[in-house]
This record gives sequence, C-alpha cells and structure tokens, in this order.
Amino acid sequence: MKIFIDSADIKEIRDVASWGILAGVTTNPTLVSKTGRPLRDCIAEIVEVVEGPVSVEAISPDADGMVKEAREWAELDRNKVAVKIPMGVEGLKAVSRLAKEGIMTNVTLVFSPNQVLLASRAGATFVSPFIGRLDDISHDGMEVVRDAVALIEYYDFSTQVIAASIRHPLHVVEAMRAGAHIATVPYDVLVKMVRHPLTDTGIKKFYDDYQKIPKK
Ligand code: G3P
Repeated sequence: MKIFIDSADIKEIRDVASWGILAGVTTNPTLVSKTGRPLRDCIAEIVEVVEGPVSVEAISPDADGMVKEAREWAELDRNKVAVKIPMGVEGLKAVSRLAKEGIMTNVTLVFSPNQVLLASRAGATFVSPFIGRLDDISHDGMEVVRDAVALIEYYDFSTQVIAASIRHPLHVVEAMRAGAHIATVPYDVLVKMVRHPLTDTGIKKFYDDYQKIPKK
C-alpha cells in the first residue's frame, strides 16, 4: 500500500517527503484554506516538491467547468496532477472526458460500492472512499474500502483505491488489511504511525547500556 499525505501544508509535505516514504499528496479546499495561501501558488509548490501524484479539487458544478479546470491544472504537470472530481452525474461525465484526454482523476466524496463501480467504469484513475466520515455517522467506513478493492479486482478495473478521511493509525492498518492501493494520511496520524512506546524505551535502554561499555 502506498502512502500519500492528506495535507496542503508545504512544511508537513516537505518533512514527510524527507522520510523517503511519500508517494503522493491529496488536498481539498478545506486543507488549502487552512494554509492562508492562494490556491495556485500552494499547489504549484507541492507539485514541485513531490514525486508522485498531487490531487487538487475541481469546484465547478458542471462537467464543462470541471474539464476546463482540470485542463488548467494539468498545465502544471500532467504526469503529476490528478484532478479531484466530486462523485455525481456531472462528475462522471467529466471523468470520462478527462480519461480520454489522459488527465488523471481522483473521484472524491465516495461513500458506497455503487459509486466506486460508476467511477471505475467512467475511467477514474483513483477513487477515494471517505472512511472517517462514514464512521462519524455510525457506518463501517472500511467496508466500502473492502468492497471497492474486491470489485475492482473482480472486474479487472485499473482504478486505484485511496483510503481517505483517515483519522487514526488503526484506520491505516485496516486499509492495508482491506488491500487498499493507497492510504492518504494526515500529518498527525503519520507521526503517530512512526511511534511505539516499546521502541522509545528500547532505544533509551540501548543508549544507556552503550554508555556502560568500557571504552578500552
Ligand atoms: O482525503 C479526504 C479528506 O481530506 C477528508 O478528510 O477528515 O475531512 O473527513 P476528513
């Protein structure tokens, strides 16, 4: 399973990129608004810093508008920008048109296996089931990831499943168990994934014991 960071904060992105584990970035208007930066500057810098795909959200309500936005984003680097298209009839129209143009898409705000099937049929590069938001309303968010992976494999679609709206490290473990191709993980959760109390105490004990070794 590849790891993306779900963030628009360039400091967080640079930091995780330096760990050598980062395969891409997902953003959304909420995350970009938290940076206080103009959208285009923010995304252009992320595209420069990161090797893998960078998802940026289209906000037009209709397919023509989404396609226009996508073409503009693709000018930054069409091999790296994936345009996030919200699930819906207009979104599906946009995805199928963009697939023919070779522009990567990430169908977002996905909450059911039927939506995964439709996005895959339309030619989405990525599909993003939102786990945390389903858990928030007492549905099993991971169930959609499991179904998505199974149906994509069964019907031999090329769409990759991004486990999104991840809230804690156990979500990442469950996404792996479900066979998600990618998990997009917020910075604080990535930091928690690194840590384990037994690692910390183990490092301290080895360090302390090293000091006791005679130097000659
Ligand atoms: O990648 C999707 C993510 O940005 C949504 O997360 O926590 O707002 O549900 P959240």
